[in-house]
Amino acid sequence: MTAPKETAAIQAGPIEAGPKKLFIKTYGCQMNVYDSERMAEAMGANGYVTTDRADDADMILLNTCHIREKAAEKVYSELGRLRPLKDANPDLKIGIAGCVAQAEGEEILKRAPVVDLVVGPQTYHRLPAMEQAARAGARPVDTDFPEEDKFERLPKGPRASRGPTAFLTVQEGCDKFCAFCVVPYTRGAEVSRPAERLLREARDLVERGVREITLLGQNVNGYHGEGPDGTWTLARLVRALAEIDGLWRIRYTTSHPNDMTDDLIAAHGDEAKLMPYLHLPVQSGSDRILKAMNRKHTAQDYLRLIERLRKARPDLALSGDFIVGFPGETDQDFEDTLGLVRAVGYHSAFTFKYSARPGTPAAERPVLPEALLDERLHRLQALITEQQKAAQLAQVGREVGVLFEKTGRLPGQMVGKSDYLHAVHVGDCDAKPGELRRVRITASAPNSLSGELVPVPA
Ligand code: 5AD
Ligand code: SF4
Repeated sequence: MTAPKETAAIQAGPIEAGPKKLFIKTYGCQMNVYDSERMAEAMGANGYVTTDRADDADMILLNTCHIREKAAEKVYSELGRLRPLKDANPDLKIGIAGCVAQAEGEEILKRAPVVDLVVGPQTYHRLPAMEQAARAGARPVDTDFPEEDKFERLPKGPRASRGPTAFLTVQEGCDKFCAFCVVPYTRGAEVSRPAERLLREARDLVERGVREITLLGQNVNGYHGEGPDGTWTLARLVRALAEIDGLWRIRYTTSHPNDMTDDLIAAHGDEAKLMPYLHLPVQSGSDRILKAMNRKHTAQDYLRLIERLRKARPDLALSGDFIVGFPGETDQDFEDTLGLVRAVGYHSAFTFKYSARPGTPAAERPVLPEALLDERLHRLQALITEQQKAAQLAQVGREVGVLFEKTGRLPGQMVGKSDYLHAVHVGDCDAKPGELRRVRITASAPNSLSGELVPVPA
């Protein structure tokens, strides 16, 4: 997973007068963004279209994240804010989906009387039936882990055209059991979707206008999907996707260092469509803490891996996740984390204060003082900000590929992402969304770059 953040409501189709309206608020990682899109499509079967206004909706779904305490608590605060809408419109149905739904199930109904249904991440295909049951007066809860592929079972809506980038979930769940993490409990064991289905879905996305696909999985490089001739690795899948005409860019996230196989490292060196950006969380730079976290690799293992990746692809941009203040983390352990960050040189990284999650092994261990966590977070963030700035400044004067996605705030401005996943603003720009153009980077701002189009030779 990458860093959870709140994502705006998603839009799955045109809004017309008449159909029922669905508002989805998505929390957490990109896998939730993908799931929200699929749920919106599934609810098309019940006559819903999406809206970006909660106060206009016939149904509100909160697709939730349970990764840290703060993320989970946000859901209950949001439910408090939704209460007046329900008072004003008793026909409004409110559903909780995602990892809080999985972790808390029935408890949510007890704690929040406004909630009409609770659906875990593995049973979205049952959502249309659950909505009907809720309309009939029930308060259904479904947090099963069924055998079937939920994405295959989803009712299919109309094939709407798509923007230039899309997520594609290829794998779900995690068998790694890091001592701090709820994912193996909320998303269950690792399951990979069959390769043929993914290729079919990718071709469909490309036909609908998608040019860049990001393959998603909680442990995406652990992908081991059934292929036509045996089990496929992620590298095999990437190479097969790269053969699709009209698909220009492939990315994947989130990876575990222990599943970074030789064939995937090689693909970074020779598969031109695989973008030179890798999110590879290490969590800590201290071997003592890595052991306590049950990471099953050392800091040296990680550094050696980075060396091999950079040998294959020297310009690879790296990103990571770090937890500060894991139980038992000493000053020296934290210094080791800073040392690892300095040794790697990240393009960007996500930093988190340790949050004890009920049911995880680490939740039993004594926590460190909050002030110490704050101080360490601050120091680590400062170092990473410095590295991010340096990485961005190093782009100035270079030419990069930019896939344009949308218009910018200024007139004539277009915004897209570079090969290295930097947001790039180009003024006075004739490129359309979905065009991949060469851009010369001219300046670096705190979280984005700006540049100018490189003229295409006549
Ligand atoms: N506390 C703090 N951060 C956590 N993460 C996962 N679980 C916790 C926790 N209990 C972070 C890890 C992971 C990212 C998605 O969230 O860094 O890689
Ligand atoms: Fe959580 Fe660790 Fe699995 Fe990542 S690898 S999802 S941090 S248990």
